[in-house]
Amino acid sequence: MGRGLFLVFEGIDASGKSTQARRVARDRDALFTFEPGDTPLGGDLRRWLLDAATPMRPATEALLMLADRSHHVFSVIEPALKNGRSVVSDRYYASTLAYQGFGRGVDLGDLRAATEMAIGSCHPDLTILIDIPLDVANERRVRDHEDRFESADLAFHERVREGYLDLASSATDRWIVVDGSPPEVAVAAAIDQILSTLPWPDA
Ligand code: TYD
Repeated sequence: MGRGLFLVFEGIDASGKSTQARRVARDRDALFTFEPGDTPLGGDLRRWLLDAATPMRPATEALLMLADRSHHVFSVIEPALKNGRSVVSDRYYASTLAYQGFGRGVDLGDLRAATEMAIGSCHPDLTILIDIPLDVANERRVRDHEDRFESADLAFHERVREGYLDLASSATDRWIVVDGSPPEVAVAAAIDQILSTLPWPDA
């Protein structure tokens, strides 16, 4: 049995990536998963990570994200891929590079080294960045009960967005950037066109 395909959706908050990731997983009969928090251990970590009332150093934030990821790879992603099931994850290690690295200023070299420890050789086959300008994201966002990241200032979110674009431009063979500003169906069509060129194991 062949290994499944591993796709990751990335983007700033309100980019529409979660909707698209869920749709692709459903259409392709792949396993949908997300970070942070899609394991019992990760659920506890997510609660602390998003809690705006718990002050945290950027390094602590990064290490907890990485702990969640390490456990997620070991207990969810790798077993599915080895079983021939494709996996679609809403966020993966690029989120840590973008948010904790570009956004919070944690050293990117340190983050990359720690990521190797967390994921081993479990790299995505393709990362799809749904890119939207900050003003579009702000219009879409509902502003009640903002979490640690939603409550961060505009400059932080701008650095995260630029960080994503920087990551995508330095690994164009493994990243695709999709404009997330048009209506949902148009974004879906753009994504499906790209995905139809991939070697899906179950096809
Ligand atoms: P998520 O549940 O995807 O929220 P949203 O749908 O609003 O994007 O992620 C929760 C938050 O966690 C999000 O603001 C981004 C942040 N995050 C990081 O800062 N670093 C990471 O490594 C990950 C996985 C998420």
